[in-house]
Amino acid sequence: MVAVAYVNGRICSQQDALISVFDHGFLFGEGVYEVIRTYDGEPFLLDRHLRRLRTSAGMLALKVATTDAEFEANIRSTISALEAAPGATRSDYYIRIVLTRGVGDMTYDPAASPAPTTVIILRPLAPSPPEIYEKGVTIALVPIVRNHPGTVSPLIKSNNLLNNAMAMQEAMRRGAFEGLMRNYRGELAECAQSNIFIVRHGELMTPPLTAGILSGITREFILEFAQAIGIPGHETMLHDEDLFTADEAFLSVTTREIIPVVRVDDRVIGNGQPGPITHMLLVEFRRRARELAHRRSV
Ligand code: PDD
Repeated sequence: MVAVAYVNGRICSQQDALISVFDHGFLFGEGVYEVIRTYDGEPFLLDRHLRRLRTSAGMLALKVATTDAEFEANIRSTISALEAAPGATRSDYYIRIVLTRGVGDMTYDPAASPAPTTVIILRPLAPSPPEIYEKGVTIALVPIVRNHPGTVSPLIKSNNLLNNAMAMQEAMRRGAFEGLMRNYRGELAECAQSNIFIVRHGELMTPPLTAGILSGITREFILEFAQAIGIPGHETMLHDEDLFTADEAFLSVTTREIIPVVRVDDRVIGNGQPGPITHMLLVEFRRRARELAHRRSV
């Protein structure tokens, strides 16, 4: 797979995209990131992703000197470089912006690292297997507890992904597509890489940010447009039983949009098939995403 990366102002091939071992992103996990995707070559909801990137960085006292216009220009130059690479074909892209504290002495003092590292990794977006939408997926309710908001807040889209990696490892051991975590109070929080929704009596429900979750951009977009197409949505604390007895459930994530959940470990959700409201939301999501991309490109 062809990938390129923008590294501190230079666009390089995958092999040449290197960072110092003295970077505090590597040494201490001090950094933040965003994952964005394109529709028809246009970065989707870029303004919201950049806003969240700034919020995450602010929570680590990491200064972001790059403006939104500069980020956008750097993303577009990186896309052009990838499209010019031998063997590249035009597609939709996965864009990962990574900001770290940068290189400095081995101390936690932010002043020791005056120049943050900026990386943009770009590669073709791996196509989603159609069966995940047609048949739905099984997720695992894992024993790993989502980070307490008083430790590394899940609101920070942090490069320090041990909590997520451990939840995902447990899910993979159980053959599940995703690992759903509870928070420290035992309420449902979110999955290792996605937010969770349930549908009951035609209404959408998803845990509030106070459950200790990432403020997912896809989650936010769904809550906004669902209302507009007559599906009421609420943020509400959810427990295991709410999920087990839901009519439908689904995951939301930038790279895969809306994925129906039909089982949680050995419990079947609804009738074991992707539900009609989940389907309606997915169709509407894709329609709106393409429409927004088209409007930006003309
Ligand atoms: N994951 N919750 C967590 C813990 C996540 O890592 C993600 C995104 C989400 C969904 O957020 P959004 O809708 O903004 O993609 C929720 C990304 C894609 C990743 O880390 O690869």
